[in-house]
Amino acid sequence: MKERIEALLAQVDSLVCKTDQEIEEARVRLLGKKGEITKLFEEFRTVAPEMKREFGQKLNVLKTAAANKIEELKNAAEQSSACVASFDTTKPGDPFTLGSRHPISITREEIVEIFRKFGYDVSEGPEIEDDWHVFEALNFPPEHPAREMQDTFFISDCDNPVLLRTHTSSVQVRAMEKMPLPIRIVCPGRVFRNEAISARAHCIFHQVEGLYIDENVTFADMKQAILLFAREMFGADAQIRMRPSYFPFTEPSAEVDVSCNICKGKGCNVCKGTGWLEIMGCGMVDPNVLEASGIDSKKYSGFAFGMGVERIAMLKWQVKDLRNYFENDLRFLKEFETSI
Ligand code: DAH
Repeated sequence: MKERIEALLAQVDSLVCKTDQEIEEARVRLLGKKGEITKLFEEFRTVAPEMKREFGQKLNVLKTAAANKIEELKNAAEQSSACVASFDTTKPGDPFTLGSRHPISITREEIVEIFRKFGYDVSEGPEIEDDWHVFEALNFPPEHPAREMQDTFFISDCDNPVLLRTHTSSVQVRAMEKMPLPIRIVCPGRVFRNEAISARAHCIFHQVEGLYIDENVTFADMKQAILLFAREMFGADAQIRMRPSYFPFTEPSAEVDVSCNICKGKGCNVCKGTGWLEIMGCGMVDPNVLEASGIDSKKYSGFAFGMGVERIAMLKWQVKDLRNYFENDLRFLKEFETSI
């Protein structure tokens, strides 16, 4: 009997049950009317009187241990089911912030994505350039003011100067030199100019250059591409107008305005009462530029355009001071936070 009591005690100790049914089964098996502990109590009647004290004590310890264990298991099961019941799976989750992408990155990507949909590839070039790709091949005359120290950052100023590119038009030269025709690309990138920093100018900013060269490309193709871009960027009712302009690398050249998306062309302080906002320069690639990169200007023609990413972002988000984009002020950057 002693061994059976001890074996049962060990069993009780290591008892594990999870469900109510398992617990009830264990209770019946141990303490029920025909349970093993109940049976031991019956057998106890036949135990010799001198042994009764010792066995009686042991049996009581076993019975209490079993009852306590069953109670303990019941409480644990109750708690875990209460926990499941109080967890409302239909409740919306807590939003968490993902951090924010820089507004310039967002805008650059939006511009590139629009042109990608039109079938343009993305092409990139170096920020540290030579005179040929930034000026010479783009038909800048030797005395052009952009070639002066006060406009361009020169790294070395010897016979073959090394400089920081002042525009991403240099990438179109690199593309024309090495890519097979037809070429249809956009070139996003950082550019550098030796300017005093103010609300409207910075020495580092971003541009997206566009270039399309094929047989029979016309000014009308350019106008349509830019109109479609403006509508994707500023809304389906956006209008554009082109004003004659001058760039050494395009002929004819134009500056493009988009109808003011704030006042819808009526005139407000953003568009200074004109109803129009300047967004880019463009033109038909000058035959000299095509020839400089080894492209037959009798057979091929093309258009190019270039826009400032900061400028587009300022118009899109009504940012009045360009310096906001470069100061990493969290109060500004948080405006562009996304959350899920
Ligand atoms: N590179 C010019 C600038 O930095 C922008 C530009 C104007 C690019 C006309 C072009 C273009 O491709 O055709 O101001």
